[in-house]
Amino acid sequence: MPFDCGLNRAIYGTVTPMKIDVAGEFAPAWRNDTFWNGTRAPLRASTGLHPDAYTNPDFFTDEQQAVFERAWVCVGLAADAAPGRVLVRSLGRRSILITRNTDGELNGFLNTCRHRGTELYADDCEVGSTLRCPYHKWGYSLDGDLKATPLFDEVPRDEFDRADFALAPVRVATWGVLLFACLDDTTPPLLEWLGDLPKRMAGYGLDDWQPRLTQELDINANWKLISENFQEYYHLTWVHPELSKVSRVDDHYRYQGSGMYCGQTTTPVSGDERDDWLSLPPADGLDESDSVSGRFVAIFPNVLLSVLPNHVFVMQLDPVEPGLTRETCTWLLPKSGADASDEAFEPTRTFWLDVNTEDIDIVERGQRGLTRGAVPPGPLAPRFEEPLHRFQNMLADLMTRPNMGDVQIPDGDDGSDESRLGTGPNPSPATIDVVRFAHLPSSGPSGP
Ligand code: FES
Ligand SMILES: [Fe+2]
Repeated sequence: MPFDCGLNRAIYGTVTPMKIDVAGEFAPAWRNDTFWNGTRAPLRASTGLHPDAYTNPDFFTDEQQAVFERAWVCVGLAADAAPGRVLVRSLGRRSILITRNTDGELNGFLNTCRHRGTELYADDCEVGSTLRCPYHKWGYSLDGDLKATPLFDEVPRDEFDRADFALAPVRVATWGVLLFACLDDTTPPLLEWLGDLPKRMAGYGLDDWQPRLTQELDINANWKLISENFQEYYHLTWVHPELSKVSRVDDHYRYQGSGMYCGQTTTPVSGDERDDWLSLPPADGLDESDSVSGRFVAIFPNVLLSVLPNHVFVMQLDPVEPGLTRETCTWLLPKSGADASDEAFEPTRTFWLDVNTEDIDIVERGQRGLTRGAVPPGPLAPRFEEPLHRFQNMLADLMTRPNMGDVQIPDGDDGSDESRLGTGPNPSPATIDVVRFAHLPSSGPSGP
């Protein structure tokens, strides 16, 4: 049985952890709204997620289907998809292909031949103008149309039209330099999913930024622990004594509009004790706030952005197992920094590697504690951990709602410049409860 009934009663009181449906099968507790009571509570009464959410293989399997097969998932950089090249990516249980045709248009397909279902490609590779099945050599255009069926017509079939056997399409889209894919046709378009984020970050012109370096890491922790750790600055002083010199706790503000993301900002980035973040030239044309700030954005579910005036550090999270995540880290530089020497880039590179090493150490400890302790979840700190509350409510939505139409893209703060530029009061408890999910009672103004 995947769920500890006794523990569940201890946490959720009257909640029955496992239900037997009419077919006599066990239904996991997390498909029931009551599993999420601690998440659905208003911020000041909320708890973190149950340990099963981080450690239970059955939860992981359900999450792969409910989240990674329905959300807009970051699958790499837009620049990875080039004409003549095919990308192979995993989304939940599915394998997909991504191509770019000679007109620059992106296409996504399920990685399966329309003849007898063979996997078309195992890894990224150059394909020229044709996707070719290795089995009987059926060939498809970069748009997925079936173009070649060698020897197939030697004995004609009664009815056969190649037009009926194009590759099965998968939605793909880009924002800035990021490449996304989505397996569910009922999920809102990417721009709707991202809410006000594209507008909020338009001043950076992220379309033009270029990858300088990419590095992959395997982390022994659940993907959500890595994202949640990124979203809160509660741990900053103790886990990152050096980072906290350029990103002081007292310089953190909310940076949150509507959309499937959780944001915060450091305004201004401090340079008096360490100037690692200032060794590269800033992007051209940044406004007064963008030119002195760090924007830290976790796009649900799996991509984390640290956007500074002169570089972006991207972390893409690919869940492998409940306690194992592949993290792909990419440093992006604006046009103005494209020619920066290795020497000029080095402080930025090593800074993030050092910070990331500290984060990896603590999230792996978190995973070990959750796995071996499995105690009931504790309270979230309202000042620092409101983004986790928002994030965990997004997760709860996807885990409990069979129809994507019932998954609400959450509101954010008002659209004022204070909110948009992260120059509001610090901290801003009056707006912390602004996150409103339709199914929750409004908690009303909450600040002092
Ligand atoms: S399975 Fe692909 S060509 Fe036969
Ligand atoms: Fe951290």
